[in-house]
Amino acid sequence: MILITGGLGYIGSHTVVKLLEQNKEIIILDNLYNSKIEVLDNIVKITNKKPKFYQTDLLDINGLEEIFQQNHIDCVIHFAGLKAVGESVAEPLKYFNNNITGTINLLITMQKYNCKKIIFSSSATVYGTAETMPLDENSPLGVTNPYGRTKLVIEEMLNDLYESDNEFGIVLLRYFNPIGAHKSGLIGENPNGIPNNLMPYICKVAKGELPQLNVFGNDYDTVDGTGVRDYIHVEDLAEGHVLSYNKIKSTKGIYTYNLGTGNGYSVLQVINAFERANNLKINYKIVDRRPGDVATVYADTNKAEDELGFKAIYGIEDMCRDSWNVHKIDS
Ligand code: WQD
Repeated sequence: MILITGGLGYIGSHTVVKLLEQNKEIIILDNLYNSKIEVLDNIVKITNKKPKFYQTDLLDINGLEEIFQQNHIDCVIHFAGLKAVGESVAEPLKYFNNNITGTINLLITMQKYNCKKIIFSSSATVYGTAETMPLDENSPLGVTNPYGRTKLVIEEMLNDLYESDNEFGIVLLRYFNPIGAHKSGLIGENPNGIPNNLMPYICKVAKGELPQLNVFGNDYDTVDGTGVRDYIHVEDLAEGHVLSYNKIKSTKGIYTYNLGTGNGYSVLQVINAFERANNLKINYKIVDRRPGDVATVYADTNKAEDELGFKAIYGIEDMCRDSWNVHKIDS
């Protein structure tokens, strides 16, 4: 069985759907801090399958152990974690405890029950302010905020764990900028409150819930002065996890892969794509840069393509259409 921590979250739920569609046996662990139980109902609607669900927090090591006592878990896909950069700067200890202590609890329990396969949800944020693009898996690492530091520390812990026990099979996946949603519109990214990230913010402006998009700077050294990022459809990202599982279920070792498209789009290009894809206008205003932002980030995707057979298939207009579709369904 595959244990999916954070399986009711944005990327976790899309990965659960894909694995269920491939008849994999899934168990979901989620503390519902940043997700809703309705996501489980929608997973059932999409797949007509209901995976076992445990409302458990990784900081509750007894609750975590119960899951391993009650189920034979072969592999863990570990999404659970706090992920708001700004919040991590304000509350670093909350992030270190939740993300790092939670992962240590998970790994201790896995080792106790001889579960030695894990796929970890890392992030391109571990590349920090690396200048040379595209970023490949050997690009210099460096973190600029506590959230990114938790991702880097967990990657390093997993490397140390593999060095201590070569029976482990570990995949570290460095996501670029996930956006989009399942074509049904039943699952997607719909954060509570004012979103930090670009696409959920654009969607709230499109819905009229927010008056305008603030574009953080247009004086970067990019095609039109606005920030360039490698946006990847969450369905492509989910497929990357399925390919990683297919690799690691029968091999040992530790492997690191970028999951991106290899294409960068500026903020203004994303706005234009969203307007074209959905035939609507987005109010925006150019404002000052956001502290900590870099000009350009996009992936070299060759290693994931060569070793996993991973290739993103969705384009920016698909991502914009599918992101908006979730909100249209809601309204
Ligand atoms: C994208 C671009 C902004 C909002 C973050 C995390 C990273 C990862 C992905 C978890 C930038 C601009 C944004 C807005 C804007 N998350 N922007 N107005 O910062 O590339 O990455 O999310 O792993 O760790 O750092 O994504 O969506 O916040 O910003 O102009 O209201 O959109 O300046 O150029 P980012 P983002």
